[in-house]
Amino acid sequence: MALATQDIDIAQVEYGTAGYHRHTESLSAHEIGRIRDSIDRISRQTRPEVVFEKDTEVVRAVHGCHLFDETSARLVRHPLLLGLAESIIGEPVYVYQFKVNLKQPFEGAAWPWHQDYTFWRNEDGMTDDRAVNIAVLLDDTHEGNGPLQVLPGTHELGLVETAGRAGRSGDWRQHVAADLEYTVPDDVAERLRQEYGKELIVGPAGSVFAFHPSIVHASSSNRSPDRRAMLLITYNAVSNAPRSSPRPEFLVSKDTTPVTAFAGTTL
Ligand code: SIN
Ligand code: MN
Repeated sequence: MALATQDIDIAQVEYGTAGYHRHTESLSAHEIGRIRDSIDRISRQTRPEVVFEKDTEVVRAVHGCHLFDETSARLVRHPLLLGLAESIIGEPVYVYQFKVNLKQPFEGAAWPWHQDYTFWRNEDGMTDDRAVNIAVLLDDTHEGNGPLQVLPGTHELGLVETAGRAGRSGDWRQHVAADLEYTVPDDVAERLRQEYGKELIVGPAGSVFAFHPSIVHASSSNRSPDRRAMLLITYNAVSNAPRSSPRPEFLVSKDTTPVTAFAGTTL
């Protein structure tokens, strides 16, 4: 299903101004059920794509599922998600990253303030921030279960002050753990919050959002009994593909073939 012209306009304007956009359409309960089943199955497998909370066996995230799981491979071709990404980027896109951050009840740890583009530039050599994160909420997400928090408008600042080493760290685990490699220091984030305000990415399961690689964002730990799983597909402009990245394929896909939508409207 291609986006209606009016929806494209709204997405582009909102995204351009705020650096994030809540889509008017959602994935259905049936589709979310299928994705959850896949992710639950993958979470129980022993494979490098499955990442745990520090010193535990609690699954924090699963990566690159579109490379080995049929449902995830089809999902990245979903006209709703791909159409939104293409309308924002304005040219053919490919899947740069695919991950699900699971934020398990009472155990899911925080994500400190950061900008995704810092990682993609420093670690992968992405030359421009012409990519977009499409987020799908797999669980009902509310203030209490560690929703994503974004500082609207901060995507226009470029890369702001970052704590962390300049250049490549070489350790991809520090790009997916609670002690992230590159963070925006808390005092800087607090100043930005006062100036730009803060929005929570909340809503029922199935909600779809887009957010910019340079928007400053974070999320707190999950202290509630409700899991907060969020699926993230990063689509990058084909013309913006890094020449090479030393990171594993499941973290940074090297196949830059443009993604095409599947026929029909549902997963
Ligand atoms: C989160 O899952 O809350 C954070 C995701 C991200 O920063 O990419
Ligand atoms: Mn991020």
